[in-house]
Amino acid sequence: MRVLGIETSCDETSLAVVVDGKEIVEHVIRSQIDLHKEFGGVYPEIASREHFKSLIPLYQSMEETEKIDLIAVACAPGLMGSLLMGVTFAKALAFARGIPFVGVNHIEAHLYAAVMTTPLPYSFPALGLIISGGHTALIKIEGVGTYTVLGETLDDALGEALDKTGRLLDLPYPGGVHLETLAKECLSPQNIFRRPKVDGFNFSFSGMKTQALYYIRKNPPRNRAERAAIAYSFQETMFDEIAFKTRAAGEKLGVKDLFAGGGVICNERLREKLKAGGMRVHFPPKELCVDNGAMIAGLGFPVWHRKGRAGEDF
Ligand code: KG4
Ligand code: ZN
Repeated sequence: MRVLGIETSCDETSLAVVVDGKEIVEHVIRSQIDLHKEFGGVYPEIASREHFKSLIPLYQSMEETEKIDLIAVACAPGLMGSLLMGVTFAKALAFARGIPFVGVNHIEAHLYAAVMTTPLPYSFPALGLIISGGHTALIKIEGVGTYTVLGETLDDALGEALDKTGRLLDLPYPGGVHLETLAKECLSPQNIFRRPKVDGFNFSFSGMKTQALYYIRKNPPRNRAERAAIAYSFQETMFDEIAFKTRAAGEKLGVKDLFAGGGVICNERLREKLKAGGMRVHFPPKELCVDNGAMIAGLGFPVWHRKGRAGEDF
């Protein structure tokens, strides 16, 4: 089954054709980062207008859309105006082409990105970890489509806290990747920050943002080396928290495999820490960690088969 996937939940317009939920035959992404940079975050109205402008030209630029059997579209969660652009486009295209469409969950798609790019052998139940700009969650995966949320953030997502702290260090938006580069320059690691104290498998990162704000106010960095020391310690503290709870959840469930997804999973230091946790760790390639249409097209296949009819989510 050839599925066209459409992703417009935040600031990337992306379309892809994926066969049988696994094989990516075409994938196009148009990022809006340059437009949002001056605001230091995603400007929702600009985001939806850009999706509106980009969807048709991107679709027309594709070469593999002649024979498609199904359209899958990210329908939640995300920015409402942005999601509506993708969903409206998907509905209109499905009607014009006389094929069905199905809505898929963006967070489930981030998890599925790791599943679709991992060759066997792996086994379920497994542990899932989503860390993006909007979500942080540990999930028990019984199988594709059957999940139990073990814990999630009680306030900010980890990616958001990285981005906000990047801003305090005068890094461009989105700060995560720039913080990673800066942290790598740190030559004298220090323990500046304290790990959040949250019971169980939930997370909280808003206090980390406050720690960073007060520390930087009190000790304004005088040069790049001092900024690198802050970036390093901030990343270490955040990632230790994730690695500790992920390992504990894996041990509690007694599972062998960890599937990780979401933009922050691009981070190499975080990958190192997760790999040391005793499970077989499966990361998607970086272009499938960030928001993308291939994960939506891929997930469309099992979602269609488990639902068996179009439009159920709308
Ligand atoms: O999954 P994603 O593209 O969008 C959402 O669904 O939110 O994730 C975006 C987040 C941003 O917070 C961004 O700073 C972060 O992923 N990110 C990174 C890296 N690359 C992207 N964070 C840390 N290190 C990176 N290399
Ligand atoms: Zn996302």
